[in-house]
Amino acid sequence: AIDVSGLVDAEGGLVDRAIFTDQQIYRQELRRVFAPSWLFLAHADQFHKPGDFFTTYMGEDPVIVTLDRNRRVRAYLNSCRHRGARVCRADYGATRNFTCTYHGWAYDLDGKLVSVPNKAGYPESFDTGEWGLVEVPHVDSYRGLIFGTWNPEPVPLRESLGDMAWYMDAMLDHDEQGTVVVGGVHKWVLEGNWKLAAEQFATDWYHVNMSHASALMVLSPTGKGPKDEIVHRTGRQYAGPNGHGAGFPVHPKNRFDAKTVHQWTDYQALRERLGDARVEGPLTNGHATVFPNFSYLPVNGSIRVWHPKGPDRMEVWAWTIVDKSMPPEVREAQRLYNLRTFGPSGIFEQDDGENWSEVQAVAHGFITNSVPLNYQMGLGSERDDGRHPGTTSELYSDAAGRAFYARWRELMTTPAWHEEDGR
Ligand code: FES
Repeated sequence: AIDVSGLVDAEGGLVDRAIFTDQQIYRQELRRVFAPSWLFLAHADQFHKPGDFFTTYMGEDPVIVTLDRNRRVRAYLNSCRHRGARVCRADYGATRNFTCTYHGWAYDLDGKLVSVPNKAGYPESFDTGEWGLVEVPHVDSYRGLIFGTWNPEPVPLRESLGDMAWYMDAMLDHDEQGTVVVGGVHKWVLEGNWKLAAEQFATDWYHVNMSHASALMVLSPTGKGPKDEIVHRTGRQYAGPNGHGAGFPVHPKNRFDAKTVHQWTDYQALRERLGDARVEGPLTNGHATVFPNFSYLPVNGSIRVWHPKGPDRMEVWAWTIVDKSMPPEVREAQRLYNLRTFGPSGIFEQDDGENWSEVQAVAHGFITNSVPLNYQMGLGSERDDGRHPGTTSELYSDAAGRAFYARWRELMTTPAWHEEDGR
């Protein structure tokens, strides 16, 4: 294993660019960061009856997420035990069995191998009970968000979220009915390391005025862009011990930029349910990352995964979620607002993707790699402010970025369960 402790000085706010470009570090990330962590799989609303399935990735491992006959969410490695082809090549759908299109081995919703063409050709010792799909050992959900981990003995999901759940609830827990998905899953490829996106969503409000100046001008009612009140100047940033982060302006008046949603929202009910600090904070606007690669934008209803595809590339998968209690016209307003701003056609998303690709494009140079990057904003400002749970910092701060990389370094320098035998 590569010792990355010299590449990340989370306490001093310095990061070496090799962590975005090095192939060996990337392989180590798949083993030590992705394999042991809780990773976002899907939204519960994507599954209604046994056999409904959705295919996704955990790190670079393809997985099938499905409902078994007992309506339990199960996840399996999407790779045939025979010669390794994907047993399910559809993005989503409904089925009774997963039948591999290479030679025809078929697996049921419990992952059992139930059909082998020309089975008589195998020796008597061939036991189909030993050749079922490899199952993701732990799948759990938090308010409709389904996560899985390969770690055989993980810290429970709720515990690993810790205080982050308080911030997530500003998007997920508006009422008893929870959230549902509207529209499909948007997927697109970006040239850039997955961490550039994940850390920005954890920590970076700083880029908003500059990077999104023209987008803000388009949305601004006065046309002044960043000078307008759309960009709030004060706020807080949560920096969690497990690498999660959330930033949000603090605004005494509630505001949604999707007017129809804003007008429909019962703020008094939200204040009673979630408290003033959340309604005036993370519910108004903001950005967040659940370590390592799940991010969301509460006001937009955008949830997304940054799938790693090598050190230089990521694939973004994005959903729009809305309150189930929203009537159709409000759901549609939320969906359109999200698409206008984020997603493959979103005016903000274009700015972000270009920045990440720009950083990545020059990161391979030898001298470039010898010059560390700066994550020192707000250094030492982290504290318990008595209003927002956990450790928070200023809105304009790299505190959550430092926490993100501290967690990354911790995992990268700790042998995972699969290495205990010295591998
Ligand atoms: Fe799946 Fe052969 S690879 S049946």
